[in-house]
Amino acid sequence: MAETAFNSDVSTISAKKRSGSSDDQWDQFAAKKHQSASNKTDDPAVALANARHEFGEHGGVNMSIEASATFTVMEPETMRRMFAGELGPDRDFFIYSRHFNPTVLNLSRLMAAMEGTEAAYCTASGMSAISSVLLQLCSSGGHVVASRTLYGGTHALLTHFFPRACNITTSFVDIGDLEMVEREIVQGKTKVLYFEAISNPVLTVANVPELCRIAHDKGVTVVVDNTFAPMVVSPARLGADVVVHSISKYISGGADIIAGAVCGPAKLVNSMMDLHQGSLMLLGPTMNPKVAFELSERLPHLGLRMKEHCHRALVYATRMKKLGLKVIYPGLEDHPEHALLKSIAHKDYGYGGIMCVDMGTEEKANKLMNLLQNCSQFGFMAVSLGYYETLMSCSGSSTSSEMNEDEKALAGISPGLVRMSIGYSGTLEQRWAQFEKALARMS
Ligand SMILES: Cc1ncc(COP(=O)(O)O)c(C=O)c1O
Repeated sequence: MAETAFNSDVSTISAKKRSGSSDDQWDQFAAKKHQSASNKTDDPAVALANARHEFGEHGGVNMSIEASATFTVMEPETMRRMFAGELGPDRDFFIYSRHFNPTVLNLSRLMAAMEGTEAAYCTASGMSAISSVLLQLCSSGGHVVASRTLYGGTHALLTHFFPRACNITTSFVDIGDLEMVEREIVQGKTKVLYFEAISNPVLTVANVPELCRIAHDKGVTVVVDNTFAPMVVSPARLGADVVVHSISKYISGGADIIAGAVCGPAKLVNSMMDLHQGSLMLLGPTMNPKVAFELSERLPHLGLRMKEHCHRALVYATRMKKLGLKVIYPGLEDHPEHALLKSIAHKDYGYGGIMCVDMGTEEKANKLMNLLQNCSQFGFMAVSLGYYETLMSCSGSSTSSEMNEDEKALAGISPGLVRMSIGYSGTLEQRWAQFEKALARMS
């Protein structure tokens, strides 16, 4: 990784607490356990279970919410030392909740454990996580090499907003063409290689280890959006430097929260909080601690939820293909990256909870979605993903509408592509009967 990209003098984050706190002995035990366990295991479920468990102020099994915007000190000198970076959250010294907040930091530690990174910090949205980390890693004149198949908002950020607002430019590549990726990296100018582990919406699987090797040989930092595949794939365990998430999706699971996270080296996370140069500190896309609390209650069952999303997606994709539909799903053996995903995915989770059906035309796609929602109640016509109900959208005219026709064609987004985020409510057979009922009405 490019060493100079995020040097910072601010003390690094660890799970150590301020000495003299009442639970000091327990804290030190928990901190050691956290540090050794989460870093060594390859299994995100094991790492999450080994992460330090924060108890509530009165012995509650759930942590208390630290809702304060600002924090008091006992001596005036402490304030000066906190602002000078001598005392920080690693020792339980907090300044102001746009900077580190204890409850948000606790969720962030869980995110770091899940992704196998040294540190993490949570943000107000997935887009703020993506924009903040890219702004931290790239200065004006910097260059990004990015996959052509990205969420439409990220594509627009790189294509339109960054060049206009801060002269950061991007070359888009076919992430499966490793020679092309290598060719587009301009040594010394390219700061970041950016891609989605499983891409939105066409479900291209990135060869994370090979892409990291190419980037690292040229001193480029690898940032991977793992929104589509939490628990399924761990990009940082495969070599990526930074993992970003839209927590709004699977990690939340309730379609009721907008949130994001940056998981990576402590040095990077600390640099993003730097009082003079930090993108999180100075742009301020802060997560509310009450939201962080809610999310920390949902992360422990993310693995169970992912297994059911993935299981149902595989069953439906297999059955839909048998019915003669044009199905895109990396769990199917005919998917071009099926073997790759199998080789990089964690065992027992499956191949992701998103599948696509290409209906050929937007008209047919709309007709199918209309029947699936309004005739048989298979799912809802809505963007987003990771909800317990099935969500369906026609990507070309919705979440990828930021891309022009050529960009969509290059990304493989056909006008009739229906993206389905498979839910787990009801029984599998009940939902399948609803799908068949709607399909029968198509003709
Ligand atoms: C892959 C991916 N990354 C990032 C985002 C942006 O996340 P948020 O809506 O939480 O800002 C999305 C949103 O749809 C997404 O699908």
